[in-house]
Amino acid sequence: MSDILPQDQPLWRKIQEEVRNVAEFYNFSRIDTPFLEFSDIFEKTAGASTDIVEKQMFLIERRKDGGRKLALRPEGTAGVVRAYLEHNLARSAQPAKLYYFGPMFRYEQPQAGRYRQFFQAGFETIGGVDDTIYDAQTMLIVFRVLEALKLKNISSQINSIGCRVCRPQYERRLRAYYQSRKKNICKDCERKLDVNILRILDCKKDQCEVTKLDAPSMMDSLCADCRERLREVLEYLDELKVPYTMNQCLVRGLDYYNRTVFEFVAESPSSAIAGGGRYDYLVETLTGKKTAVPAVGASIGIERVIEAMRAQGVKEPSVKKPDIFLVHVGDLAKKKLLTLREMFSRANVRISESLGRESLRAQLKLADKEGARYALLLGQKEMFEESVILRDMETGEQETIPMAKIVDEIKRRM
Ligand code: HAM
Repeated sequence: MSDILPQDQPLWRKIQEEVRNVAEFYNFSRIDTPFLEFSDIFEKTAGASTDIVEKQMFLIERRKDGGRKLALRPEGTAGVVRAYLEHNLARSAQPAKLYYFGPMFRYEQPQAGRYRQFFQAGFETIGGVDDTIYDAQTMLIVFRVLEALKLKNISSQINSIGCRVCRPQYERRLRAYYQSRKKNICKDCERKLDVNILRILDCKKDQCEVTKLDAPSMMDSLCADCRERLREVLEYLDELKVPYTMNQCLVRGLDYYNRTVFEFVAESPSSAIAGGGRYDYLVETLTGKKTAVPAVGASIGIERVIEAMRAQGVKEPSVKKPDIFLVHVGDLAKKKLLTLREMFSRANVRISESLGRESLRAQLKLADKEGARYALLLGQKEMFEESVILRDMETGEQETIPMAKIVDEIKRRM
């Protein structure tokens, strides 16, 4: 888990701004759900046999008074859908287009680009008409955010993992294939064979890569409807000029997806910077009622975006420098400094100062360090004359200006 230090805040603010701009452009409304949810929400939706649920949830011990177990949210989608149901957002205009920006928590093995607290910006389109145009729009939105942040060489990988009709058939074929090759795959994949067969396709170990080469392909198992929908999504992406490649081995680390799944990658870091897909059965899973609600979404991993930006040398916004640094000598001047400060902040001038008892030299040094354009010097004499000394920090030139005129004078110069 990381601290976001003051010097990193301008970049984080910029990323949040771009996320908000893109979200508003595509009519997404912000939603904030709690960091804690009942853990069974994730168990039901992400899938009991996924890494996220099996190993990575931060669970909170049951309180003495009983109640359901809580978990720090490992991802945002389940909480957003829970809120959609709880507040009956299906009543308002559909689909509900919701976006969020906040921390997620997974007890992972920390390494570059993999943290236990990380931030996601997520976009979810829930309800309304079941239309593949939303799959493409979701991918477009991710692409637009990454573009707005000046990332280059972004590509996406897309796949269809089928529906309730065709996926079980594919899983059977895949299981049969791997059953007869058990000795060729790693221990982890051997386990997945029984609990989460699709995830076998995700293994990057050499021995498993070789076995994967001849594994049955999902494409050959897709039903006519899934095939047609995939074709539609790809056509929309072509039209929108969102770059993609088909990856028939792309399966996601969460079980709630059906049909379209995708990930975005930059050259560095090599791991995905965003991922998502369609999840038409998630509402059903949460309510237990047989009503499929079309839904599709994606989340962008903010730390990975930052790593990609830094690897690509994207210029970062810097900490804003003060326009003016107020320097004072003596108690009277110190009191006046507070009034001056208020006058300037009302006029939207960025002010900095040292309120302690540092010497004149120390205060000027600080003004220089903070990169202030001007320093205003206020001593006994100036107090008596109701004036201030304006010092240009670059040239060192100084002039005396009546106190009553100083705000206007500074605004004029800026
Ligand atoms: P996800 O692929 O698990 O999907 O996470 C989305 C993104 O979050 C990843 O592509 C990655 O950039 C970032 N991420 C994931 N784990 C970590 C980590 N430990 N450290 C740093 N970054 C990480 C989801 O979470 C889905 N909820 C996406 C979605 C939204 N699907 C539909 N709607």
